[in-house]
Amino acid sequence: MTGSGSPHPWLGPDEAAPVALTVNGTALEVRVPPRRTLADALRDAGCTSVRLGCEHGVCGTCTILLDGSAVRSCLMLAVQGQGHHIETVESLAGGDGLGPLQQAFDDNDALQCGFCTPGFLMLIESLMRSEPGAGEERVREVVSSNLCRCTGGGPVVAAAQQALASNRDGR
Ligand code: FES
Ligand code: FES
Repeated sequence: MTGSGSPHPWLGPDEAAPVALTVNGTALEVRVPPRRTLADALRDAGCTSVRLGCEHGVCGTCTILLDGSAVRSCLMLAVQGQGHHIETVESLAGGDGLGPLQQAFDDNDALQCGFCTPGFLMLIESLMRSEPGAGEERVREVVSSNLCRCTGGGPVVAAAQQALASNRDGR
């Protein structure tokens, strides 16, 4: 109910609210119940690179960028995205195919089943922007916050180092 007779226009748990997002540079208005997560809203809007693993903030597969910083979209409500700039893996590709970070993953065989890969890509993209000089120890520390049940951690670290080095060299 919309609270007719109430001083507050509160929504019921299943009533949809309009939420204005910017997703990968494009304005997007979605209508979502207030309890719907940002991860679910993004998937419903076609950003199916956003993967859900644990759904409670542990695994990191749902990592996206919010105003340039890595966040776990399963821990945010869609309504909290109002007015924010969201980036997902769909933004990483270059005009001719894979972007540099995606190519580094391919070069280093940094994926097995690939379910966790979108989260790693966005986590490392955030690191490349905030700490372009990050060394191996820092890469290992950051990458360890996401889980890969295929135990592909070594190649992910190698891919991140390749991408950071390419970035520094302007390649
Ligand atoms: S699905 Fe979000 S942290 Fe696991
Ligand atoms: S590649 Fe399989 S969970 Fe990461």
